[in-house]
Amino acid sequence: MTERLDGRVAVITGAGSGIGLATARRFAAEGARVVCVDIDAAAGKAAAEEVGGLFVQADVTDEDAVREMYERAVAEYGRLDIAFNNAGISPPDDDSILTTGLEAWKRVQDVNLTSVYLCCKYAIPHMQRQGKGSIINTASFVAVMGAATSQISYSASKGGVLAMSRELGVQFAREGIRVNALCPGPVNTPLLQELFAKDPERAARRLVHIPLGRFAEPDEIAAAVAFLASDDSSFMTANTFLVDGGISGAYVTPQ
Ligand SMILES: NC(=O)c1ccc[n+]([C@@H]2O[C@H](COP(=O)([O-])OP(=O)(O)OC[C@H]3O[C@@H](n4cnc5c(N)ncnc54)[C@H](O)[C@@H]3O)[C@@H](O)[C@H]2O)c1
Repeated sequence: MTERLDGRVAVITGAGSGIGLATARRFAAEGARVVCVDIDAAAGKAAAEEVGGLFVQADVTDEDAVREMYERAVAEYGRLDIAFNNAGISPPDDDSILTTGLEAWKRVQDVNLTSVYLCCKYAIPHMQRQGKGSIINTASFVAVMGAATSQISYSASKGGVLAMSRELGVQFAREGIRVNALCPGPVNTPLLQELFAKDPERAARRLVHIPLGRFAEPDEIAAAVAFLASDDSSFMTANTFLVDGGISGAYVTPQ
């Protein structure tokens, strides 16, 4: 593996599972020092141990905790080069607008959107001091496409992440800070596996829309994050980076 991230310091939120965990492994393999942030202490600690990094337990909806996690990263490793703002939830009580209550709406907005606002707000000043940095915010393909199987707050939160990332990418471009929104298609994570094990017809209904005919593996998303984090993407900012197996480009898919 090339060491594109040699000497870089990365903070990953939601590093204990799924895309965040795969990215922690990938960043470490490419030479980065990785700070693994998660609300789940056992999962976050295991991830940090595996990649030889630092674990910081934090709830990304808590402003003080977010500010402190970047301070810890800088105190430990001296700098902050990469912020992968990835923690997010997709709870079952976020569904059709007709049945989703205000509590569920707000909880999802807090964890998926307000957290990204907080992470960018407190990561950017460290990067400004260095005159360089790469921020990758996890949105989703549902930020650019509508679904009849709605998760209304989730989709709205990811649309917010996309618009905020674009705006920050433009605002801070001349200071050497790049901000891109990563938009994964459906990924083969425990959450999705559980959902589709219970309801295979629901899985089939979704798979038919994916030209590549399958869900992504977390490693495939991590490879895209590593590209956005590295100087290989040095001319990319304010970008909607779709890694979706062709979903957003498709009208009719192969049988
Ligand atoms: N899995 C998919 O199909 C898919 C598709 C598109 C986008 N995404 C997005 O990718 C991101 C990661 O998804 P995943 O599938 O890897 O999820 P996951 O559930 O496997 O991992 C998410 C991690 O975030 C942590 N987390 C949750 N709330 C937190 C909080 N308040 N503070 C700190 N940590 C918290 C969890 O403990 C968990 O370790 C999410 O933003 C999700 O919306 C996922």
